[in-house]
Amino acid sequence: MIKFENDYFFLEGKDISYIFRIDKAGYLIHCYFGKKIKAHPTSIVPERFYCWHSWGEDGVKLDEIAQECPTFGHTDLRKPMVNFGDKVSVLKYKAHKIYKGKNPLAGLPSSIDAAMDAETLEITLFDSVNSVEVTLFYTVFESMNTIARHVEITNKADADLKIDSCYSMSIDFEHSDFAETHFAVRWGFEREKVTSPVVRGSLDLNNARGGSGHFMNPFVCLHSPDANEKQGDVYSFMLVYSGNHSTLIDTDQRCRTRVMQGINPFGFEWSLKKGETFTSPESLLTFSPCGFGGMSRSLHKFIKTNIVRGKWKNKPRPILINNWEATYMNFNEEKILSIASLAKDLGIELFVLDDGWFGKRNWDNCSLGDWYVNTEKLPSGIDGLAEKVTDMGINFGLWFEPEMVSPDSDLYRAHPDWAIHAEGLKPAESRNQLVLDLSRKDVQDYVIESVVSILKKAKISYVKWDYNRYITDMPRLGYNHEYTLGMYRVTDEITQAAPDVLFEGCSGGGGRFDAGILCYMPQVWTSDNTDPIERVYIQYGTSFGYPTSTMGSHVTASPNHYTARKPSMKTRGDIALSGNFGYELDITTLPKEDLDAIKAQVEECKRIRSLVQYGDFYRLADPFRGNIAAWQIVNEDKSESFFCAVRILFKSNVYFPIIKLDGLSEGALYRDEYTGNIYSADELMHRGLFVDFDHGDFVTYTMHLKKI
Ligand code: GLA
Repeated sequence: MIKFENDYFFLEGKDISYIFRIDKAGYLIHCYFGKKIKAHPTSIVPERFYCWHSWGEDGVKLDEIAQECPTFGHTDLRKPMVNFGDKVSVLKYKAHKIYKGKNPLAGLPSSIDAAMDAETLEITLFDSVNSVEVTLFYTVFESMNTIARHVEITNKADADLKIDSCYSMSIDFEHSDFAETHFAVRWGFEREKVTSPVVRGSLDLNNARGGSGHFMNPFVCLHSPDANEKQGDVYSFMLVYSGNHSTLIDTDQRCRTRVMQGINPFGFEWSLKKGETFTSPESLLTFSPCGFGGMSRSLHKFIKTNIVRGKWKNKPRPILINNWEATYMNFNEEKILSIASLAKDLGIELFVLDDGWFGKRNWDNCSLGDWYVNTEKLPSGIDGLAEKVTDMGINFGLWFEPEMVSPDSDLYRAHPDWAIHAEGLKPAESRNQLVLDLSRKDVQDYVIESVVSILKKAKISYVKWDYNRYITDMPRLGYNHEYTLGMYRVTDEITQAAPDVLFEGCSGGGGRFDAGILCYMPQVWTSDNTDPIERVYIQYGTSFGYPTSTMGSHVTASPNHYTARKPSMKTRGDIALSGNFGYELDITTLPKEDLDAIKAQVEECKRIRSLVQYGDFYRLADPFRGNIAAWQIVNEDKSESFFCAVRILFKSNVYFPIIKLDGLSEGALYRDEYTGNIYSADELMHRGLFVDFDHGDFVTYTMHLKKI
């Protein structure tokens, strides 16, 4: 998979090639990344960059050359991948090694060699001006179309080294005939798909709000301008990181494109003493010549196999009921038990107690950090309540927000200095809370101990790990990375101490939905916005980077608490069924017909959840471009598929839409389990399905197809 021949490195994944070379002056020259090719060293890159107007003594003008690890200031004046104290830097090849497998990254989450088919190339470059060693890591996986890259910087000088920026990867493409698609935008509307042409200059898709953020997901696609779901070259870059990040798309004077992804250089600085090493987060590079659909399915496979790990990786995820939108913080033991008991009768498998169970928390103005039960509300304690719930035959889960502290809490009164603050400034509150300084070991230890002691004492099989505000008042440059490393230590220790527990990440909904978190927690709450129609957009946008098995999706009340919309129980259920399914409403107040509908949905979820969790995802109609959304999930041997179409608004006198399905077995017949109708796969895929929507707005049409 990795060959070194005549100074060329040939990296091959399943259907991809990545090629670069060491030139005669010792620079690393990028040659190719894309569809798998049979390359010959002499045919790949002309020597044209050795030119009469070169600036460098070795006859090289790097400004003209596609590189693997660009620096600034000598013969390249474009944006650099690594930058040391704004000093001129020149990096040249020193050594390399190739080995089977892949090592973990120090202190950071990263992909694993789950299928034992990885090979890694480590190339060390040396900067003799600054006495810095930079090692580039490339891991290829034989069964995957994703390459993992990261960088390590070691200070070889006697004096301290200042790092101003360290992107995890950089690629130079020889043209700028690209468009880019990224996923933005705010709380309650995460991962909106935004496409723009790649124009002259820089596009910095970044976030500096402390976590990976609602505003900008650390996942960006660079693609042919006309790429669609089935056709066109699509590259994607996903950072395995939960702090401030940046993906920079930069075109130069000759209209070539440089893409870099890593920690956001804004607000960043890192100091290394002699012999110390800095490790960047990992970036995942995926390519497909078969459009966004091909790219997403490759990346989903990678995430499901090489990012998600632990006991729950390949286990059916429980159907849960969460009390947040049912009671908010206004509950007592009797109410909780009544919901749990009815949920059990409906076939639901897990009850989750959300915010409000600890300290004296009856609203969001106090008690974060005081992780001891409020016995006025829950006289049997968490262990007693968990016992009562599990005795009913339904599992018990609990909400925490471990990284936070309320100014009105015993913890803050005892340790006001434990909250992140800038010297001389009262820290800004958000949702009445402050963030704990997880760069400190004593604070990390407190958080680990307080969560683990509860998990050890009570019968808890699920944790919702929330993180509900941005980080302000960072005390120094580079602090956000220190925080992120501390947060990873805390997360790692807690999840390892409770290996049987299913952890679900959350951050004001989907504000920290990234591959870093997914290394510890196999699923994330996709958004606080639970309106199914809004969720169509949010889940559709999320699906470009992340598989359905990572997305939490729940049925909530009508009218919806965020939008006051009133979609039917069927619409709410159908849309939630395409993720980790659950409920979040007061079922004890529902009429019998809704309870019957829930029972049927729960049964249906049990029938299709393996398909939803492990299947391949096909986007068929894009809600960002029209009034209809449709998608399909197909299992590996193509014997089963779940199809869901949604019409947002009814338009009078308009034909039924025709949607072409995908991924089925050519020539086969399929029966729709819901209607008994029999369809030819060829017709469904090439002629299309007339979608027989019910009358009205916000309606869904689903099929559960089984091959005959
Ligand atoms: C966040 C989460 C919600 C809920 C509340 C509790 O907003 O996203 O699901 O847990 O916190 O305070």
